[in-house]
Amino acid sequence: MSDIILSGRNLSKSYKQRTGKLGLGSAHVKALDDVSVDLRQGSTLAIVGESGSGKSTLARCLLQLQPLDGGEVLFQGRDLAKLSRSALRAERRYLQMVFQDPFASLNPRMRVGEIVGEGLLIHQLGNQHEQRAKVVKMLKRVGLTEADMQKYPHEFSGGQRQRIGIARALVLEPRVVVCDEPVSALDVSIQAQILLLLKELQQEMALSYLFISHDLRVVRHIADEVAVMHQGKLIEQGDVASIYDAPTEEYTRNLLQSIPGRRALAA
Ligand SMILES: Nc1ncnc2c1ncn2[C@@H]1O[C@H](COP(=O)(O)OP(=O)(O)O)[C@@H](O)[C@H]1O
Ligand SMILES: [Mg+2]
Repeated sequence: MSDIILSGRNLSKSYKQRTGKLGLGSAHVKALDDVSVDLRQGSTLAIVGESGSGKSTLARCLLQLQPLDGGEVLFQGRDLAKLSRSALRAERRYLQMVFQDPFASLNPRMRVGEIVGEGLLIHQLGNQHEQRAKVVKMLKRVGLTEADMQKYPHEFSGGQRQRIGIARALVLEPRVVVCDEPVSALDVSIQAQILLLLKELQQEMALSYLFISHDLRVVRHIADEVAVMHQGKLIEQGDVASIYDAPTEEYTRNLLQSIPGRRALAA
């Protein structure tokens, strides 16, 4: 048995973009250009690269939130595109996402209890009583309280909102969690707390993470393996120590050198 839980093979995706002053022309942007990635069970694969390199497109395509132009995604060995709609819907429970912006990704008109419990309702997991118990347990686990269920997202700080976003994803007991820049919108002091929480939950719940970040400082503390994206291509991949200590690509060296406070690497 392979220990690869999620695998993207030869993924490609282009967007049509308007060009020219009047927007009359158009050009194709290759957001994913023959990208292959393997996520190992229980580990964290970081996808790094500057803004626009295709990271979020990769995340959305892996989770079938967006159609691919080519390639396939295997979850536990099964091709997700070949599943029926209802079978894919059932699998979604196991493939969850934590978003960058906890302000934009939480419905401001829903109470926290509804936000965190919505997935349980959709997937019909347990009766009302059990669902409530799961929500309470999850909220407490991420550092919130039972009373917080009645509140609205605007009543929380950025860090607390990201805890709500994490609770919403993890209450479903997923196997794979794609975290798309989960701490990028937060203060540095809060970032460390959220990263620690994600790491603890990974251990407790045997989660596999695809962790997307443009910030290599963040990635070093959480990743087992790192894949570097540049203009829609995966240009370098390896375990975290080898990427940091002996990057082979010029682009990766430049990314590392742009980390504030880091000694310039000897080329
Ligand atoms: N919905 C879209 N329509 C058109 N172009 C898009 C769309 N989403 C992303 N792109 C383009 O695809 C490229 C990759 O974007 P994205 O995956 O968001 O990168 P990243 O997450 O690394 O910043 C960029 O050139 C971006 O402008
Ligand atoms: Mg992005």
